[in-house]
Formats: sequence, C-alpha cells, structure tokens
Amino acid sequence: MSPSQLPLFTALTYFILSCLYDIFLHSLARFPGPLYHRASILPWAYLVFRGTLAFQVVELHNKYGPVVRLSPSHLGFSDPQAWKDVFGVTPGGENLKYRGLYRSMTSGVSDSFLAADTAQHRYMRGLVAPGFTARSIVAQEGQIMAYVDLLMYQLRNRSTNGSVMDVSQWFNWTTFDVICDLTLGDSLHCLENAETHMYLKFTHVFSEYSMKGAVLWHLGRNIAFTRSSNVSVCWETGENFRWHQSALGPQEVIGTANLFMVAGSDTTASSLTFFTYYMVTNTGYMSRLTDEIGSTFESDDQIDLDKTASLPYLNACIKEMQVDG
Ligand code: HEM
Repeated sequence: MSPSQLPLFTALTYFILSCLYDIFLHSLARFPGPLYHRASILPWAYLVFRGTLAFQVVELHNKYGPVVRLSPSHLGFSDPQAWKDVFGVTPGGENLKYRGLYRSMTSGVSDSFLAADTAQHRYMRGLVAPGFTARSIVAQEGQIMAYVDLLMYQLRNRSTNGSVMDVSQWFNWTTFDVICDLTLGDSLHCLENAETHMYLKFTHVFSEYSMKGAVLWHLGRNIAFTRSSNVSVCWETGENFRWHQSALGPQEVIGTANLFMVAGSDTTASSLTFFTYYMVTNTGYMSRLTDEIGSTFESDDQIDLDKTASLPYLNACIKEMQVDG
C-alpha cells in the first residue's frame, strides 16, 4: 500500500469496524431494524434530507413492529404512550429534550425553555402556564376570532371568481397572525396583506435547516444553528411582550417568543390543512359535519369556542385527524 492510500484505508477500516460494532455490540443491538439502519446513521440522515423519513418510519414499523432501530443510537416507537414515557413532563422529572436538536437560538444561553436545563425548564413553564388554561383561552377568544373573521372575509372575497386557493398558505397566515398577536401584542398582517411576512419565510427556512443542521451536527460536522441576527423582529416588537418580563431576561423573552411563534403557528396550520384535506376527500364525513354545524348555528357570528367544544361530530373528527395525522 502506498503512503497516499493510507488515510483512505484508515477511514474505511474505521467505518467498517464502527458498523460492525453498531450491529453486534452496541447497547441497542438487540432491537430490530434494517441492517443498513443498524450499521450507520447515514441512511437516517439521507431520509431526513430527502424529507421522506416520516413515510419510511411507518413502513419500518409495519415491517419490524412497535420499536424499530432507525440509526445505531436512535429508536422509533409507534405507541403514543412512548412519547409520555420518554418526554412527558412529570413532577420532579428530567427535561429529556434531545440536546442535538434543541439548542439555543441566540448566544449560547438557555434562551427558551426548550434549551433550558430541567430546573429552568420547570420554572419557565410555570411562568407561561397561566396563558394556556381554558379560562385564559376563552379570555383571548375575541382576539383570535378577529383573525378568523378576517380569514373568512378574504376567502369569500377571493372565491367568488372561482379561483383556486392554497388553503395551507391561508391557514399559515392566520395562525401566524394569531400567535404573533398573542405573543407580542401585534400581528405582522399576513392575512390583511395576503402576503407572507419575511419572519414567516425565515421560520420555514429555519425549521428546515435547523433540522438539517442537527443532522449534520450529528454526522460530526460542527455546523451550528442559525443565530440571533435573524430574530430582530421580536426584539423590535418585544416591548409589547405580555409575560412577567421582570422574571425573564431579554434573551429568554426573545427565545421564548420565537419558540411560541414557531411551535404554535406551523403546527396549527398543518393540522387545519390536514383536517381540510381529509374532509374534502371524504365527502360522507364532510356532509355529516356540515349538517351538524348547519343545524347548530344560524349565522357565523353565533360560532364560538364554547359551542364548538360541545359539537360531538366535529370533535370526533378533530381527534381522528390528530391520531391519523
Ligand atoms: C395542532 C397544533 C400543535 C401541535 C400538533 C403541536 C405539537 C407539539 C409537539 C409534538 C411538541 C413536543 C415537541 C418536543 O418536545 O419535541 C410540542 C411542544 C411545544 N408546543 Fe406545541 N403543538 C401545537 C400547538 C402549539 C401552540 C398553539 C403553541 C403555543 C402557542 C405550542 C407551543 C409549544 C411549546 C412551547 C412546546 C414545548 C413545551 C416544553 O418544552 O415544555 N404548540 N408541540
């Protein structure tokens, strides 16, 4: 072997030995999964980059059962109880968020409770919890309904000429405006302008690249996440921030506001999009739901949180969508 071939030979030997270790000696070696997933993280990383991991995971569970090895040190569970067992917040329990994914978005401090350690996480959850009670949500109903009304107005205005609309886009604008208003005290007027605000564009890019960044990080390249220069929107409007400001430092306020905007808007918009998709592709369910709503309300302005919460068919459809989606 020539000296120039030595690095390649060493790398190859290291790769093969680590694959053999992961297949036979790793502490997760007894869990089932395809050989190439058990041997290396590369197949998992490839699926994340292609955006097809979720589909592949379903197939793997169908083939290998409720627990499947997705990469050498990564297990997938199909039973929803696993989420509670591993990540559930229990009194005195640890915050087990995976550090490779949940990292600070600003300068390395625990700037949101995703990146916080267990004690700080518990403290910050306690601060924001009053904003998420049923009573609190009812108190914010008027504010939320203003955006729902604006959405309906915009959709009705645009649907009269028979044009095709991207509901996913409209739901994203709505949920983003609502969450931004609830979090910072003002929306960025996506619905009003029928336009994607720069922050929303950034959020999508951030979500995608933070995931890919985590994968690259995992693969050994020290690629950090997008940093604070991109969160200036919150900084500017942050003075409207409604939480107990004195209890949180500015970095934590910015970090937590960002977290709420990312965590609360896209998730809710995707759920609404799924819901709409399932309804329009299942006309039987759609007509039963339309009947229930039509026989309960005579006009739009009668629709409120309290009454919709007691519609059995609507709530059954939402629960079904959550399980399936
Ligand atoms: C249908 C809508 C939603 C879905 C499907 C959803 C889903 C999730 C999931 C799966 C997690 C756990 C993530 C993890 O720990 O890895 C999570 C956490 C979280 N979500 Fe949501 N979410 C939704 C709506 C919202 C809304 C409206 C908000 C806020 C306004 C929000 C704020 C959060 C926060 C702050 C966390 C972190 C909790 C913690 O670390 O203790 N989510 N969400």
